[in-house]
Amino acid sequence: MSKQFDVVVIGAGPGGYIAAIRAAQLGFSVACVDAWENEKGGPAPGGTCTNVGCIPSKALLQSSEHYEHAGHAFKEHGIDVAGLSLNLPQMIKRKDNVVKQNNDGILFLFKKNKVTFFHGRASFAGAATADGYPLTISAPANETINAKQVIVATGSNARALPGAEFDEQLILSNTGALTIGDVPKQLGVIGAGVIGLEMGSVWRRLGAEVTVLEGLPTFLGAVDEQIAKEANKLFTKQGLKINLGVKINKVTKGDNNVTVEFDNAKGEANTAVFDKLIVSIGRTPNTDGLAADKVGLALDERGFVAVDGDCKTNLPGVWAIGDVVRGPMLAHKAEEEGVAVAERIAGQHGHTNFNTIPWVIYTSPEIAWVGKTEQTLKAEGVAYKAGTFPFLANGRARALGDTAGMVKFLADASTDEILGVHIIGPMASELISEAVVAMEFKASAEDIARICHAHPSLSEATKEAALAIDKRTLNF
Ligand code: FAD
Ligand code: NAI
Repeated sequence: MSKQFDVVVIGAGPGGYIAAIRAAQLGFSVACVDAWENEKGGPAPGGTCTNVGCIPSKALLQSSEHYEHAGHAFKEHGIDVAGLSLNLPQMIKRKDNVVKQNNDGILFLFKKNKVTFFHGRASFAGAATADGYPLTISAPANETINAKQVIVATGSNARALPGAEFDEQLILSNTGALTIGDVPKQLGVIGAGVIGLEMGSVWRRLGAEVTVLEGLPTFLGAVDEQIAKEANKLFTKQGLKINLGVKINKVTKGDNNVTVEFDNAKGEANTAVFDKLIVSIGRTPNTDGLAADKVGLALDERGFVAVDGDCKTNLPGVWAIGDVVRGPMLAHKAEEEGVAVAERIAGQHGHTNFNTIPWVIYTSPEIAWVGKTEQTLKAEGVAYKAGTFPFLANGRARALGDTAGMVKFLADASTDEILGVHIIGPMASELISEAVVAMEFKASAEDIARICHAHPSLSEATKEAALAIDKRTLNF
């Protein structure tokens, strides 16, 4: 007889594994199925985020930043580093170890929470019966199980450029971009989005000459314009060659290089030859092997599993979360949806607030934001007040030697409610949490301006930006 579960989660990325744990905490019998394999063919739960996304990219960003600092930034602190050299195999090994620690951590959490883990690919085997949905799981698990409730959390894959399929040797997705064996002399990056800027930064810091080719005429269009302008200036100064408004015409692979033919923003024909080419032009939802058609699971016109605001699909008892559904492709968004769905299955009122999902780009300086940008408020005709504070005037930033950037507050002109907070600067990824909390509690800019912030700390720049709304900064 098939094993029977109250809840089966397909995919153990940040959406799936968190949904499974929360469902188990709520007293359900839970299984989580994941197909990802490590290099030995064993299970590697954690999905894109853990294996080829958030975690390994941040490990390499950290290592490459240490290398760059040791190269010149330490000197200003009075630390002379002699005989500096790069041990790339060790850097990659460390990154792989960090990934493994996270894979193992998830397996431990499954055990701790009594979630049954199956390693293999799950497919819908047919319509629901009285026992729920029958699911088949491929090798190595080779099982058939029944699920009263199914949570689809199958994630996303890198989108390839037509005519330039990924081979992960010369034309790289995020997967290949995290395992380059030798620092390329010339690295091409198509797409100046989050991956392009993060991975471009890693390889630039390690010595590559990096050329970024972006299709849109604006840099980081989703980011507040003032912040994006500052970022473009800083990244260009660091050495990233950012070309906006290009049109890629042809990508041709040679034996050891890739030639990209493109028109620049003026429409002039250009040719560039790269040792490696990263293509980071967005991601597509992954429903491969799920046999969605067998049960009539509806997809939308872009291939995402169609869901309502509560992550319900068109099938009773089938939910979908994370990158495989609409909304930002972020690990913490997937996690929030996972918790909310588990709670809804338990009859509770799980909730995901899309207005307060923070975004972070882990470049140096980091870029982080929550809520609306100034250009969106203008387009929506909202009356707002803006306040900015530069890190140059923050004591902690000066002590760190990290003074580039600013904090920017946007608040409603009449109620003073915070509508958006935008940061470019040191530890922006951590600083943004204060803004998220404030917006969740519908705080005003004045609330932040009147809260005591530790001195010296970067968070004082947040308080000062809130004070700047009413032109009462104290340190600028
Ligand atoms: P995924 O993490 O993609 O997991 C899906 C899992 O389902 C995979 O393990 C897959 O093998 C498995 N699966 C698929 N189909 C089946 C099936 N039929 N049966 C069994 N298993 C199946 N987000 C952030 O918030 N912060 C970051 O810093 C960040 N950095 C990133 C860096 C890079 C380079 C990339 C590519 C992404 C990054 N992201 C980041 C995005 C983040 O990785 C995703 O938003 C997140 O992983 C989505 O989680 P998920 O659970 O929906 O899917
Ligand atoms: P992206 O959507 O961030 O950026 C893609 C860029 O490629 C865009 O600027 C787009 O205009 C450009 N583009 C698209 N087609 C093009 C073409 N034919 N020629 C030239 N440019 C083209 O996508 P990216 O960087 O691939 O990342 C995918 C997703 O992964 C992100 O949107 C994000 O959700 C997630 N991610 C999150 C991270 C984080 O939170 N720090 C880090 C990395 C990825």
